[in-house]
Amino acid sequence: MPTLDVAAIRKDFPILSRKVHGQDLVYLDNAATSQTPLAVIEAITHYYSYYNANIHRGVHSLSQEATDAYEQARIKVQKHFNAVHAYEVILTAGTTHSINIVASGFEALLKAGDELLVSALEHHSNIVPWQMAAEKTGAVLKVIPMLIDGTLDMAAFHAMISPATKLVFCNHVSNALGTVNPIQEIIGAAHAVGAAVLIDGAQAAPHIQADVQALDVDFYVVSAHKICGPTGVGMLYGKEKWLEKLPPYQGGGEMIATVSFEKTTYAGLPHKFEAGTPNISGGIAFGAALDYMHSIGFDKIAAYEQELLVYATKALLGIEGLEIYGTAAEKTAVVSFNIKGLHPYDIGSILDQMGIAVRTGHHCAQPIMDYYSIPGTVRASFSFYNTFEEIDRLVAGVQKAKDMLC
Ligand code: ALA
Repeated sequence: MPTLDVAAIRKDFPILSRKVHGQDLVYLDNAATSQTPLAVIEAITHYYSYYNANIHRGVHSLSQEATDAYEQARIKVQKHFNAVHAYEVILTAGTTHSINIVASGFEALLKAGDELLVSALEHHSNIVPWQMAAEKTGAVLKVIPMLIDGTLDMAAFHAMISPATKLVFCNHVSNALGTVNPIQEIIGAAHAVGAAVLIDGAQAAPHIQADVQALDVDFYVVSAHKICGPTGVGMLYGKEKWLEKLPPYQGGGEMIATVSFEKTTYAGLPHKFEAGTPNISGGIAFGAALDYMHSIGFDKIAAYEQELLVYATKALLGIEGLEIYGTAAEKTAVVSFNIKGLHPYDIGSILDQMGIAVRTGHHCAQPIMDYYSIPGTVRASFSFYNTFEEIDRLVAGVQKAKDMLC
């Protein structure tokens, strides 16, 4: 008996009843973006239909209502991640934006020879901003190696970390492989040498409710669109002491206290990092998405997705020549695979013809693909609204693609 009433949940997602190439859609690209429930769509249309106004600026009623709704959403995000203060929650354009704010801010704090430790499992968005910061400051980027099962080499990590380490950045969950990383151990070891830690929670957020106080993490970043929210909005959580230390990322309206041609003073948190008119409806809908996820329950979601993962892994391994990348004991519901002799893109294209959406390619994690000496993988990623029947269709589709291409 499944742990969730998936048939009822699926009715909340209009897109799940559409057809693609004449077939019922099977959407298995949830690690790229999750689908959007009516409650979130309605939060956006309600904002534009009823109280669309700029925030933090007007004395008029619409502006006050929009400001209240936006700040309420910030509090929902704060409570979800258990931040001490709402002003430690910066609403950004998403994970990439959040990481860039921190990486560019650290340019003011780093000096030549400082060491930055990056995990080998990172998405490009948690590599490139730091390479840019290292180039500008002379800091040195060192890579925590990975092992064949898609986990981090923690012995190597403990040997690498030293008082020269200023910052460690790592994802909570690998987007390409689904590995859940031992972030508590990483944070503890980093703090023991005085280094700060940024955790990219983009892929963890749909499955795991992170508690930033319990983790004692310095920065935690997510995108709303992976958690049933809209694109173009996300969170940068930072401990107050770090957000106070970092300079602003962008100049403009909202982020100032006073401006004259002689000198500008900056606004306090969170506005110091929120220059310009933000994605107001997106922020409000981010809050609605968290409400929706909580109405189902993160524990139930995680338990059901694990059932899907176990079922899909076993069924896919029944296909001769199929190899799964990322076999860690602790994984989220992601299966990355290839079939010997076939290009992932060809498999993905044939699946699409059957109405099955998966992602193919390097998943913006080229170093992982280089490690396995492959151009990419086919990645099926599951969400709480997926069914066992959909996995059966995936497996039949992959078998058919193999028969056609071999
Ligand atoms: N980072 C997203 C993915 O893994 C887009 O697909």
